[in-house]
Amino acid sequence: MKIKENTILITGGATGIGYALASAFLEAGNQVIICGRRKDKLKEAEKKLSGIQVRICDVTDFVACVELIEWMKKNHPSFNMLINNAGIQQILDFKQKVPVEAISNEITTNFTAPAHLANLSIRHFKKQKESAIINITSGLAYIPLAIMPVYCASKSALHTFSVSLRGQLRDTNVKVFEIIPPIVDTELDKGSRGKREQGDRGIQPKEVATETLKALEKNLFEHPIGMARNLYAAAHSDKALFVFNRMNGG
Ligand SMILES: NC(=O)c1ccc[n+]([C@@H]2O[C@H](COP(=O)([O-])OP(=O)(O)OC[C@H]3O[C@@H](n4cnc5c(N)ncnc54)[C@H](OP(=O)(O)O)[C@@H]3O)[C@@H](O)[C@H]2O)c1
Repeated sequence: MKIKENTILITGGATGIGYALASAFLEAGNQVIICGRRKDKLKEAEKKLSGIQVRICDVTDFVACVELIEWMKKNHPSFNMLINNAGIQQILDFKQKVPVEAISNEITTNFTAPAHLANLSIRHFKKQKESAIINITSGLAYIPLAIMPVYCASKSALHTFSVSLRGQLRDTNVKVFEIIPPIVDTELDKGSRGKREQGDRGIQPKEVATETLKALEKNLFEHPIGMARNLYAAAHSDKALFVFNRMNGG
């Protein structure tokens, strides 16, 4: 996959990994549009990243997602790359009563919205010379952390969806990538690592961005980064891919 001259939409692009991806893709010579819910964060990113375009969008609002992709197609007909990066992470204790809204919101943000946005983009992407859907999952998609059960399940779902989507699109020009970060030093955990006295703040978002561009350039469709490689390796064997290929005529 080429890593310049793309027109890229990054969800959750105003902070953390999304911001680092926006910065790296701009620097590499791409057109970048980011979205998120907080206007102030989008404005901050707009000030710092010359050439970026920003849109307010809550990805859990399915109509707003339709409007966003329609806006992309109309205003950026060369739109050829979707980075499903927006995500939330909650510590949920099922020994207590967990509100169903908390479960539903995490699944919607981390799984339903990326699938919806991919669905809205694919037919447009098929008209482009080369295009890509990039899903940001997590090492925790492979071996879960029990204190955040819905987060891990949502990332496993996004992983499995990526495998199937790649299978469905294998004879098209639409490539499906899964980037699998380890712990990254962002605000995703809303400070809970500090409260748990977890000293390891993880790698810097910039490193995830560098690895993502490398994965795209080398067509590494499933790319675990850093410590996530250990979780990925623990959960995998060669036989899994063999069985998938047998089941799917590959
Ligand atoms: N940090 C880690 O250790 C780690 C590890 C593995 C994977 N990841 C994944 O990396 C991705 C980025 O996370 P991050 O670590 O960079 O954390 P982050 O800085 O909190 O970024 C998450 C972004 O998603 C946006 N977002 C959340 N809900 C949204 C919604 N409903 N609609 C639109 N945008 C929404 C947030 O902006 P608004 O709040 O303004 O909407 C924010 O910009 C996530 O998918 C996360 O699961 C992170």
